[in-house]
Amino acid sequence: MTTKNILVTGGAGFIGSNFINYILLLRDDYFIINLDKLTYAGNLENLKPSEGKKNYHFVKGDICNNELVDYLFKKYSIKFVINFAAESHVDRSILGSEIFYRTNVVGTNVLLEAALRYETEKFIQISTDEVYGSLGLSGSFTEQSQLSPNSPYSSSKAAADLAALAFYHTYGLPVVITRCSNNYGQFQFPEKLIPLMIINSINNKKLPVYGDGLNVRDWIYVVDHIKAAELIFEKGRPGEVYNIGANREMKNIEIVKLILNKLGKGEELIEFVKDRAGHDRRYAIDSSKIQNELGWKPVFQFEQAINDTIDWYQQNKNWWERIISGEYKKYYEVQYKNR
Ligand code: NAD
Ligand code: DAU
Repeated sequence: MTTKNILVTGGAGFIGSNFINYILLLRDDYFIINLDKLTYAGNLENLKPSEGKKNYHFVKGDICNNELVDYLFKKYSIKFVINFAAESHVDRSILGSEIFYRTNVVGTNVLLEAALRYETEKFIQISTDEVYGSLGLSGSFTEQSQLSPNSPYSSSKAAADLAALAFYHTYGLPVVITRCSNNYGQFQFPEKLIPLMIINSINNKKLPVYGDGLNVRDWIYVVDHIKAAELIFEKGRPGEVYNIGANREMKNIEIVKLILNKLGKGEELIEFVKDRAGHDRRYAIDSSKIQNELGWKPVFQFEQAINDTIDWYQQNKNWWERIISGEYKKYYEVQYKNR
């Protein structure tokens, strides 16, 4: 059996930790080196199921750190990279963009340069549907849709995509890009819509809905996303982009009411607040390419998976109570004051 030495970055965050825990349950032919800076969003508690496994190693560090990245490629003979590391929250990017361009663009470039030096066999860049911008009432994003990012976050992700594709075209680095829609599931940081609304409902706090609440997002259970990422890692063609989505468009207000209903709370908790600046109206993903070419399809039903997610947050108060009492408290005050 040949072992693949994989540098997974951002593996202590929401999607990265779900990916590592899932992958290490199934595969002993992967050796994962998880490089994570442990920003406010990184949490080693998420990785308890993987701790101590002989094919898993954690390194605390920054993807922007050239020397460290070079050292890791050399030390672990890295031939594969899956780059989840990013500053991921749109609202934070509106409060301050610098760290977004630094981590998401400069950091990705540091990884690409190292991948080139060490003749990496596959480099997966985990991107987002937000690079396509916003849709009107109909239609969906295909891989051919124009890149039209609107927030500092999405523009930094689009820049990283273009850098990765440039490395493919210029040097033949085998890069593959994934563009997934909105994820939900366990370990999602409470700043994002679904966990924020679940936690505020449990705590009988107001639920701050931006604008008219009619913005649409296309939701996918995190496990469907990570299975798609695994398949793309194994079989995705270099130089290609693959959209990932589960065809589950929902208006924000529908999600909020569903959460309240499931938790037995009243709609008087809803508070319509000042809209997000530059708020994208609607996202919808056409994932027929990965379905037709690689045989992937989403398997989780939204109704079941959102119920499981709400249950998880109810049963794991310790996990989020520690978060909301720390740095997050300050962020929440800044983000939601005067709204
Ligand atoms: P997250 O914010 O939960 O986790 C990000 C992780 O990256 C954290 O562990 C953090 O410590 C780490 N990190 C940040 N800066 C770093 C740096 N400079 N060096 C090393 N590690 C660093 O994010 P997420 O929701 O898990 O998203 C993961 C990836 O998936 C991101 O690239 C994001 O753009 C993309 N994505 C997210 C979604 C979604 O709905 N959450 C959808 C599509 C794509
Ligand atoms: O589409 C993929 C993207 O999904 C990922 O690339 C991002 O990393 C991820 O954060 C997510 O971005 P969104 O901006 O769509 O997600 P967020 O959970 O922040 O917001 C979802 C919707 O809910 C959006 O229309 C804004 C709205 N919202 C959000 C918050 C936090 C509210 O109405 N109130 C809130 O308090």
